[in-house]
Amino acid sequence: MSSGDRIAPAAALAAALSETAGAIESLLDLLLRAEPEGGEIHRPARLLAAMRHGSLGGGKRLRPFLVVETARLFGVPAAQALRAGAAVECAHCYSLIHDDLPAMDDDDTRRGRPTVHRAFDEATAILAGDGLLTLAFDVIADPRTHADGETRAAIVLLLARSLGLGGMVGGQMLDLAAEGRFPEDGGSGRLGEFEILRLQAMKTGALLAGSVAIGARLGQADPARTAALERYGKALGAAFQVADDILDVEASPEQMGKATAKDGARGKATLVAALGLEAAKRERDRLSGEAIAALDLFGPEAALLRAAALFTAQRKS
Ligand code: IPE
Ligand code: IPE
Ligand code: MG
Ligand code: MG
Ligand code: MG
Repeated sequence: MSSGDRIAPAAALAAALSETAGAIESLLDLLLRAEPEGGEIHRPARLLAAMRHGSLGGGKRLRPFLVVETARLFGVPAAQALRAGAAVECAHCYSLIHDDLPAMDDDDTRRGRPTVHRAFDEATAILAGDGLLTLAFDVIADPRTHADGETRAAIVLLLARSLGLGGMVGGQMLDLAAEGRFPEDGGSGRLGEFEILRLQAMKTGALLAGSVAIGARLGQADPARTAALERYGKALGAAFQVADDILDVEASPEQMGKATAKDGARGKATLVAALGLEAAKRERDRLSGEAIAALDLFGPEAALLRAAALFTAQRKS
């Protein structure tokens, strides 16, 4: 395999990301329509509008891309993988809406627009997050996502484990605790590198790695390929949050579509704070290389996934 076959060029990745983003946008638009689904009673307009505000018209859609591209390695039909990807994106958007709430990171801008609690109100934002999280599991449980009930249940479990107590939500708890918010719990000293990496593996890494795992499960991947993809997802997930922390320092709010230069003031536990900017960049690039190396088992068919690991480290938004 030549090096050109190994990692897809940036333009090919950009085109593939944009194609997935378009398909996800259409699917979310359909899922969030005004007419109730079978079994539902009524969809309140304000809640629907807030859910649409929080999930449509923005975002890199990286998680759905990882689901779709991983599933593609195993020949899974795009329509199935896109539904699973849309479910993951719903869950991600829920996490962003709640992350931005005044009680959490208290942010006013997301994806270049007012956050949901600013565009609507706090109670509506909480419910919009709840609605999107519930919708994620609705979409996966629907037989249109996969004919086989056992596969659907396996994906429900992967998503739940990525998001819950020992995953994203747990990581968010550790993130707030590391700000020193809960002195009554004792010892709110600065976290060491191991604890920061664990916190980040939970709050951000788990759903990114979960997206890859869901793609692999949809494709009934064998144990060796599943394990390789797991290593890829974990390393990419870790690189992604270190990159987010670096961009908080180096990027403009216009570039990011959200406030920057906020982590330091809030006392967030980041690798940038613990190691300094240059060492954090080295760690980000090492992790992205680790993700690429994890795919050695695969041939040119994984070129876009390798490029996604590079993009994760080098992205500017
Ligand atoms: C932002 O995620 C939150 C983090 C986990 C750092 P993304 O950077 O993927 O946000 P969108 O979806 O592209 O807006
Ligand atoms: C967000 O981490 C992680 C989740 C939303 C679960 P951050 O708080 O660093 O994300 P941004 O910077 O607000 O996007
Ligand atoms: Mg946060
Ligand atoms: Mg935040
Ligand atoms: Mg951040």
